[in-house]
Amino acid sequence: MFDTNKKIGILGGGQLGKMLCLAAANWDFKTYILDASPDYPAGAVCTGFTTGDFRHYDDVLAFGKDMDVITIEIEHVNTDALRALEQAGKTVHPSPRALDIIKDKGLQKEFYRENDIPTTKFELFEDEKSLLAAVKQGDWTLPLVQKTRTAGYDGRGVAVLRTPGDLQTKLLSGPCLAEEMAPIQAELAVIVARNAQDDVTVFPPVEMDVHPEANLVEFLLCPARVPALVLAEAEALAERVIRTFDICGLLAVEMFLTTDGRLLVNEVAPRPHNSGHHTIDSAQTSQFQQHLRAICNLPLGSAAQKMPAVMVNLLGEPGHKGPAHYAGAEACLAIEGVHLHLYGKAMTAPFRKMGHVTVTAETLEAALKKAHFVKNN
Ligand SMILES: Nc1ncnc2c1ncn2[C@@H]1O[C@H](COP(=O)(O)OP(=O)(O)OP(=O)(O)O)[C@@H](O)[C@H]1O
Ligand SMILES: [Mg+2]
Repeated sequence: MFDTNKKIGILGGGQLGKMLCLAAANWDFKTYILDASPDYPAGAVCTGFTTGDFRHYDDVLAFGKDMDVITIEIEHVNTDALRALEQAGKTVHPSPRALDIIKDKGLQKEFYRENDIPTTKFELFEDEKSLLAAVKQGDWTLPLVQKTRTAGYDGRGVAVLRTPGDLQTKLLSGPCLAEEMAPIQAELAVIVARNAQDDVTVFPPVEMDVHPEANLVEFLLCPARVPALVLAEAEALAERVIRTFDICGLLAVEMFLTTDGRLLVNEVAPRPHNSGHHTIDSAQTSQFQQHLRAICNLPLGSAAQKMPAVMVNLLGEPGHKGPAHYAGAEACLAIEGVHLHLYGKAMTAPFRKMGHVTVTAETLEAALKKAHFVKNN
């Protein structure tokens, strides 16, 4: 039901929470944030802010008790508290059950294997020592990709191990998994939405260009430059994945298109996603509004794109830490089709996501040209 007084509780007050609050405000929906500090990006735009830790049972439970719908902008939240809230009759999307699988990359990969969702070959290890032993025994050969099972984001829990030297310098400690190196032709992300009536809409797949050093997305292009048949297959796969997880809300499905034309699911995020930011400026419905529609069981909006778009993450300068300032903003704003979004983080750090720019144009080539200019200014 469309009810502007419904209280929407969001765990996490970063940029995704902020943009969710902004979308909600357009409909006069009331948003409440739980996070460590009201100085975080969402603090400036939410209806109410509760200072607390979304990883703590008591904090999440106390926060959620006053809410009608509870959602997230980060996966690493206390799911026991979410389960208790669900049992107390609160609407919680995504479900704590799906969150438990997704926030552990090991369980996530096992879920794909059990449900015949194509993914790279993998094996779980107790710690880095047992992975090392498996390499010594020849059970695994280099190159391989090591991932920590929990708490990784923005490429921080991922090590690409190519040489024996990397085994000494790059190995990450703790419970982990080894993955076969996928022969990547392109990285795609497909955002899909589902409401409680089981309606599903799929945003057009985007192409992600990953920064080699930071292991972080640098440019994002929509539509992706892959054959129409691949786009259709990617959309169908994303739809199957959200139905298999039985999630209401958004699900971002990151995929690899391999050099031999296969689509493999890399990982998913059950929330608005970096790869969907362009939808604010280039789609019929933004991913943030779509998430609200989905979790409130409203009709889903059209996910059609109005114009080709290229998104550039504005990352903290390598080697610089301290108060944020935004060089080159004016030169970029003077260009038609340049849409600037700053998150309002007081401090910058190397490769920290400080904001993004979406460039729209009549053609993808024209948008890409302007995006390169933005990137270099
Ligand atoms: N099996 C693999 N084969 C080849 N490359 C991989 C593999 N797994 C991950 N990568 C590369 O590492 C990047 C980061 O991996 P992944 O998405 O799993 O980590 P993440 O830390 O969750 O990243 P993010 O938070 O940015 O989405 C991928 O986008 C891809 O470029
Ligand atoms: Mg990823």
